[in-house]
Amino acid sequence: MHQEPTSAINASTRYCAVYGWPIRHSASPAMQNAGLASLGLDWRYLAFEVHPDLLGEALAGARAMKFIGLNLTVPHKLLAVNRVDLLDDSARLWGAVNTVRFEGRLPSGAWRPLGELDPSAALEIRSQGFNTDAEAITRSLEEDLGLRLEGLAAVVLGAGGAGRVAALKLAAEGASRLWLVNRTAEKAATVAREINHLYPSVKTQLGYPAEAVDLILNATSLGLKASDALPLDEAVFPLPRARTVYDMIYRPAETPLLAKARQAGCQAANGLGMLLYQGARALEIWTGRPAPIDIMRKALKENVYGHV
Ligand SMILES: NC(=O)c1ccc[n+]([C@@H]2O[C@H](COP(=O)([O-])OP(=O)(O)OC[C@H]3O[C@@H](n4cnc5c(N)ncnc54)[C@H](OP(=O)(O)O)[C@@H]3O)[C@@H](O)[C@H]2O)c1
Repeated sequence: MHQEPTSAINASTRYCAVYGWPIRHSASPAMQNAGLASLGLDWRYLAFEVHPDLLGEALAGARAMKFIGLNLTVPHKLLAVNRVDLLDDSARLWGAVNTVRFEGRLPSGAWRPLGELDPSAALEIRSQGFNTDAEAITRSLEEDLGLRLEGLAAVVLGAGGAGRVAALKLAAEGASRLWLVNRTAEKAATVAREINHLYPSVKTQLGYPAEAVDLILNATSLGLKASDALPLDEAVFPLPRARTVYDMIYRPAETPLLAKARQAGCQAANGLGMLLYQGARALEIWTGRPAPIDIMRKALKENVYGHV
């Protein structure tokens, strides 16, 4: 089902956007525009390729043009922590910003989301940073793989922005054992130290386990390109030792890792659920209304798989 906007773009239309470098692969515009249309809002969601050196200017531009809010993806999530006016608890806790909400100051001094206010009023505007990725990862693991996170034993591949947040969030949710694997070993060691400090009851080690695990989570970018190597070293850790495999990549929908996992009898899921839930929460932050999850999921599937 294709969700049409309530009206053609006009002088009153308001905007949200995603910034990334690169950005052309993003399925967020399809998902968010379906959500906005379903809520009956004369808003649009755009995508801009923003070089990391220009993030400050791009944020200032969105504020000047009274955008409602932004999503940020690679490589902006960490950079934005120091470039927004304030951080919500989620962004402070996870140390990364993937959602920005612009807010206007009322004559009373109170701040309200810009989406609730008349944009033609001369307003003082500020930007607030949020993180909706962490909740989305665990919600998708629970719903798409039926995992119980309490007591989980997992291998996390990758210690970049997404791998770090995933490992910390699994620890926060009560995982019992985590093995961290990353090409640049020092980055995995830094994440392990963070987990040891914040969640000392979680047993965290570097490298692959000798035993079976509940989950292998790929948070590397290996699998985005057809020529990529597998993110997992099968000679050290054979796939049948994992009950489930989650790949944060959603395009291609079936990475070589997921295909091999299914062949090995593992339950497997791609990162579409994570994208859906982080986007749905962002929409709620901008609009103050429940996100039309089913409509957003359908739009995402149509965009990524070519069918619902
Ligand atoms: N589904 C979703 O909603 C969602 C959300 C966020 C991210 N993602 C996906 O998650 C992945 C990671 O994103 P990110 O934000 O964490 O990116 P990032 O910060 O750039 O981290 C990239 C990770 O991939 C590793 N890597 C890159 N090239 C490699 C190679 N040739 N060999 C081995 N390891 C390599 C990096 O290792 P080094 O540390 O050694 O460089 C690092 O661990 C991407 O595929 C992204 O598309 C999905």
